[in-house]
Amino acid sequence: MAIVNLQNVTYKYPLTESLALNNINLQVNEGEFVAIVGPNGAGKSTLCYTLAGFVPHFFKGELTGMVEVAGVESQKSKLHEWVLNVGLAFQNPFNQISGAKYTVYEELAFGLENIGIPRDEIKIRVEDAMSLTGIRDLADRSPYSLSGGQQQRVALTSILVMQPKVLVLDEPTSQMDPIGTREVFGVIRQMAHRGLTVILVEHKVEWIANFADRVVALKDGSILLEGTPSEVLTSDLLAENGFGISRYTSVARKAKAQGLWKKERLPVTLDEAVEGFALTPGPSPEGRGE
Ligand SMILES: Nc1ncnc2c1ncn2[C@@H]1O[C@H](COP(=O)(O)OP(=O)(O)OP(=O)(O)O)[C@@H](O)[C@H]1O
Ligand SMILES: [Mg+2]
Repeated sequence: MAIVNLQNVTYKYPLTESLALNNINLQVNEGEFVAIVGPNGAGKSTLCYTLAGFVPHFFKGELTGMVEVAGVESQKSKLHEWVLNVGLAFQNPFNQISGAKYTVYEELAFGLENIGIPRDEIKIRVEDAMSLTGIRDLADRSPYSLSGGQQQRVALTSILVMQPKVLVLDEPTSQMDPIGTREVFGVIRQMAHRGLTVILVEHKVEWIANFADRVVALKDGSILLEGTPSEVLTSDLLAENGFGISRYTSVARKAKAQGLWKKERLPVTLDEAVEGFALTPGPSPEGRGE
C-alpha cells in the first residue's frame, strides 16, 4: 500500500518564474526504500521539503496537486502534526539545530518535549537513538561545537527519536568520511529493515545500488526516469543529462563500445564490474608481446 502519494505536484518558490517541481507523480509503498538522484538544482531538496510539509507551510509559494502521506493531505494538515508523519534530515545539518538548547541531549529531547512525551520515555527514546547512530559520547556537547559529520549524525538522531512513519534524508552523509558514511548507511538500512519507509537523496550511487529498492531520477523538477537501481543508474539517459555516474559504469560503457563488456547490463558497483570483466577473455599467452 502506498504510504506516500504525490499526484501532479507542481511548485514554484515565491518571487520566481521557473517551476522547482513540475508535475511530479510518485507513490512510495510502506517499508520501501527509494533513492532520489539528480544534478544540482534538479529539485531534490524541494521534493524533500514538499514531503516534509515545509512546502507549502514554511516556504509559501504556489503548490498545486496533491501531497498525501498516510492518508492525510499536507495542505489540509498543520506542520506540527505533519512532523509525526514525516521526519526530514536537512541537506545542511546546521539548519536542523534549534538554537534553543545547550547540549546535544537537550536538543534531541526538545522535539519530544514539544509533543508532550513523558520525561521517562524521552530518556529511553533519546538514549536508544543515540546508541543506534553512535553519538552517545556527544550527549553533553554543544550542538554548535560539532563537526559537519557529527551534526549530520545528530540531525539523523533528532528525526529517529520522533519515530515518524516516513524518513526523508537529504544527502545525510555529505559531510562524512567513508567510515562515517558506512556507519550511517548501516543505520538507515537497519531502519528500512524494521519496516520504516525511507526516501533518500544521495549522490553516492554505489551505496544506492546496494541498498535502495527503487531509484527516481529527477531533472529540472520532473521525473526523468524511475526503476530498479541497476536499470536507472546504468541508463544512457543519466549519462547524457549531467547526473553523477558510477566510475564503474563509465568504464564499462567505454569498454562496451569497444566490444570488451559482454554483459547486457552495465555495472554500478565494483563487485558487478569485476564479475562482468571476468567474462571478457584476456589476450592469449602466445599473443603477448607481438
Ligand atoms: N528558497 C528558494 N527560493 C527560490 N528558489 C529556490 C529556493 N530554493 C531552491 N530554489 C530553486 O529551485 C530549484 C530546485 O532547487 P533544489 O535546491 O530543490 O535542487 P537540488 O536538486 O536539491 O540541488 P542540489 O543538488 O544543489 O542540492 C533550483 O532552480 C533552485 O535555484
Ligand atoms: Mg539539494
